[in-house]
Amino acid sequence: MAGSPNIREVAMRAGVSVGTVSNVLNRPELVAEQTRERVNATIAELGFVRNDSARQLRVGRSRTLGLVVLDVANPFFTDVARGVEDLANQEGLAVILCNTDEDPRKESSHLDLLAEMRVQGVLINPIDVSDGRIKALRERGTPVVLFDRMGDPTVECSVAVDDVLGGRLALEHLIENGHRRMLFVGGPFTLRQVQERYDGAMDAIEASGADVEMGVMTTPALNVVGGRLAGDRIAASGAPPSAVFCANDLVALGVLQALTHAGLRVPADVAIVGYDDIDFAAAAAVPLTSVRQPRQLLGRTAAELLLAETTETEHAHRQVVFEPELIVRDSSTLPTRT
Ligand code: RIB
Repeated sequence: MAGSPNIREVAMRAGVSVGTVSNVLNRPELVAEQTRERVNATIAELGFVRNDSARQLRVGRSRTLGLVVLDVANPFFTDVARGVEDLANQEGLAVILCNTDEDPRKESSHLDLLAEMRVQGVLINPIDVSDGRIKALRERGTPVVLFDRMGDPTVECSVAVDDVLGGRLALEHLIENGHRRMLFVGGPFTLRQVQERYDGAMDAIEASGADVEMGVMTTPALNVVGGRLAGDRIAASGAPPSAVFCANDLVALGVLQALTHAGLRVPADVAIVGYDDIDFAAAAAVPLTSVRQPRQLLGRTAAELLLAETTETEHAHRQVVFEPELIVRDSSTLPTRT
C-alpha cells in the first residue's frame, strides 16, 4: 500500500463502508461500539491519517457533493462521474447524481433540491439557458464548479476541453483523407459544446484553402436516436456526403447503425468521426474514429476545484482547459490497399 492509506482502504480492511469509516471519524455516536472499535483498530494498524481538508469541510452541511449532468444515459457522463466519485470517496463524501435531459426546468428543480440538502458544493454541466439559479445557489453559500464548460473567472472555477480544437482536429483529419463534401450532425446548437465543435470544424475548412463544403443536420438531442434519424435521412437522400462529423459518439453510433442498415459502407461510402471516445467507440461494428475527451480527469479535476473552494481560506477561481486528442480508427480510414 504505497503512501498513507486512504479512507477506502481502511473501509475495505475493516469490512465496512466508506461512510461508516467517515462516521467513526466524524460522528462516532452513530456507529455501534463493536464496529467503532474494529474501525479504530484498523485505522491504527494501517496508520491512516485523515485528510485535513475533509475536516475543514463546511460544518452544518451534509457530507455530499451534487453532480448535475445533461444525460445520465451518455457514457461520457458515467466516466466523468467515475472521476468525481473516486475523489469524493477519498474525502469520505457521497455524490448525488442529478440528470437534466437538457431541460432547464429539471436543472432548476435539481439545483433547488441540492440547496435544500445543504450539499458541500455542486458540479454542473449547465444548460446554457441560464435562469440565474446557479448564481442564486452561490449567493446562498454553496460553491458551484462548471465542468465541460469554460466559466467566468470572476465568479467560478471551471474545467473544460477545448472543443473548438476538437472540431478542428476532426475536419483536418477528414480533409487530409481527401473528403470535400461533408456534413456536421448534432444539436441542439444551444449547447455550447455543439456550437464550438462546429466552429472548430469550420476553422479547419477555412484554413485548408481547399474547395470543401460542410452542411448541417441538427438533431433534437445528442443521443443514438438522433443519430439514427439523421442516418436514415442521409441514406434516403440518395446523395450521401463522403464524410460525416458527429457532435458526439452516441450520435455517430446512431448514424453508423442507420447507414449500415441502409446498405451503405463505412468508410468506403461515408466516413464517420465522432466525439468523446467513449468505450463503445472502439467496440463499434466499425471501430469509430473519435475526438477523445479526458472524461475521468475532467470529473476528478472538477471535484478537486470544488473541494479547494470549500476548504481554502483564500481561494482564487481557476479555469482548467484540457486538450482533446484525435483517435483514428476504421470508420474514417480505408484499409491501405496492398
Ligand atoms: O452532453 C452531450 C455531450 O457534451 C457529451 O457527449 C460530451 O461531448 C459533452 O461535452
